[in-house]
Amino acid sequence: MKPVLEGTVALVTGASSGIGAATATALAERGAAVALAARRQDRLETLAADIRGQGGTALVLESDVTDQAQATAAVEQTVAELGRLDTLINNAGVMLLGPVAGAPLTEWQRMVDLNVLGLLYCAHAALPHLISAAEGGPRQVADMVNISSVAGRAARNGNGVYSLTKFGVGAFSESLRQEMTKRYVRVSLVEPGATATELATHNRPEVLEAIRGQFGQRMEAEDIADAIAYIVTRPRHVAVNEMLIRPTEQER
Ligand SMILES: NC(=O)c1ccc[n+]([C@@H]2O[C@H](COP(=O)([O-])OP(=O)(O)OC[C@H]3O[C@@H](n4cnc5c(N)ncnc54)[C@H](OP(=O)(O)O)[C@@H]3O)[C@@H](O)[C@H]2O)c1
Repeated sequence: MKPVLEGTVALVTGASSGIGAATATALAERGAAVALAARRQDRLETLAADIRGQGGTALVLESDVTDQAQATAAVEQTVAELGRLDTLINNAGVMLLGPVAGAPLTEWQRMVDLNVLGLLYCAHAALPHLISAAEGGPRQVADMVNISSVAGRAARNGNGVYSLTKFGVGAFSESLRQEMTKRYVRVSLVEPGATATELATHNRPEVLEAIRGQFGQRMEAEDIADAIAYIVTRPRHVAVNEMLIRPTEQER
């Protein structure tokens, strides 16, 4: 049987680790050619080699998506080299936790720059190509999957600015979803709970100490990749708008 995403092209931001790397693999396994964007080129090259070793097609894009020119170039290079863009997985993100009072402003700037502006730059550059893909592509539908978080549903003491960015991703996604319905560009929101990735490791040591033990059971990056793959392989008339996924034992 023909792989469901054969003939399509997907761009995954933050593909050098965690959920992004697992998602790129999952989409390649389903037949998509994948463009891999992140800053750590060595990690992307290793992943691309794995995907090619399985018979897939992978393009490495060393890119800092907080820079608008680089975000746009990542999209344009995907289209130039792989021929089109059917699927954007807006995944790159950073989570810097801790009290608001006394927090380093640079941490807030990093989160807003990446989780909000980086996502918007990629969305802006990708939209014309997604619209074209939906009009003339093999599946007659295109997908933008924006990765939010449980923290995009509920703010908690200690995650103020991270939650702010993820609530923003949710609001933008819902508005764009409504705008794009008749054009067959599906805009989906994925809200993972605790997942074993590098995400928490970027926190200051005192924050790491404070949050140690806060996250109990964790999902694997592949669990979220599986959900994303489900979303983008639905038939044309089915749009999974939102998916909230927690480890079974996670209460809040
Ligand atoms: N893990 C969780 O528990 C969890 C829960 C809810 C939501 N999420 C969300 O899931 C998404 C993926 O996170 P993850 O858990 O997989 O964490 P991760 O392993 O830390 O992955 C983050 C990815 O973002 C990339 N990135 C960071 N800064 C970038 C930049 N300026 N330009 C381009 N790429 C950049 C990183 O690559 P480079 O460093 O190589 O650039 C990396 O590939 C994030 O949006 C996160 O908020 C995660």
